[in-house]
Amino acid sequence: MMDGSLSRAAVTDARFLADVLAGLSRPDRTLPSKYFYDARGSALFDAICELEEYYPTRTEMALLARHAGEIAAFAGPDATVVELGSGSSVKVRLLLDRLTTPAAYVPVDISHDHLVQSAARLAADYPGLAVTPVSADYAAGFDLPVGTVPERTLAFFPGSTIGNFTPDDSRTFLAGLGRRLGAGSRLVIGVDRKKRRDVLEAAYDDARGVTAAFNLNLLARINRELDGTFNLGAFAHRAVWAEAQGRIEMHLESLVSQTATVAGRPFRFAAGETILTEISCKYTISGFQALAADAGWRSCCVWTDERGLFSVHALVFEDR
Ligand code: TRP
Repeated sequence: MMDGSLSRAAVTDARFLADVLAGLSRPDRTLPSKYFYDARGSALFDAICELEEYYPTRTEMALLARHAGEIAAFAGPDATVVELGSGSSVKVRLLLDRLTTPAAYVPVDISHDHLVQSAARLAADYPGLAVTPVSADYAAGFDLPVGTVPERTLAFFPGSTIGNFTPDDSRTFLAGLGRRLGAGSRLVIGVDRKKRRDVLEAAYDDARGVTAAFNLNLLARINRELDGTFNLGAFAHRAVWAEAQGRIEMHLESLVSQTATVAGRPFRFAAGETILTEISCKYTISGFQALAADAGWRSCCVWTDERGLFSVHALVFEDR
């Protein structure tokens, strides 16, 4: 460009490339899960949420619908709802429909185009609600609209996305979120519970292969955007419940000994070697409350389903 500055797309690509090269260069290879959500990845993720095996979305939606009145009382009138990783902004409608004169909705998401489209659809359905999308990686920090008052701020973090952080990172993230939103701000967060291995593993490795396609799309995206040469047919999706760490691990396993290049850099894979692409930590109710308390969030309420699959926690940030 004439002034020597880089376009937004060029900066994003440079970071994507640097993150991919760093992750593949580690002895225990990883790829950051935030890059799942390009246009195709976002569409595949929406399809995952509809799968028979994937109970979290359905169960959380039912909990939010059943307890919307209590959540509205918890939030209070004139709330600004800040949603972290808003995706298609479907779940938040259950809250917006019941809150007393909600003032504003601030969806924060990394997937820029998907965010803008979803925000426009929502704004059309809620005339009078100020909708101000923030295109950002919420984990890296983001700015709130000016004039946001802590006591009237409700953060909404559904989908058990908190489980995609390690417990240490979750604590750091929740403490940072509380400091950003301020003392007296509220949080409604969905947290998946520990349960039987077969139920968990099926949720992350469905019979129709949608989750496998979602995981493999990360390699397809690297091929498309970073001049990669991954042979998608030579990698397989694996989902494993790691009991000791209380987490599902999602891997891409190299089925043969092979070399793939990314932007000209070669990476050798042994047969059976894996790339860790996502973790999904599961919590007991008291385990999550203890973690949140360490981060300054006091538990006010928790709702769960009769089968004990999922939990929705309501918390308040206390100045310490
Ligand atoms: N937050 C979701 C979860 O942990 C994300 C998710 C669901 C996911 N299925 C996935 C992430 C498959 C990667 C791959 O349940």
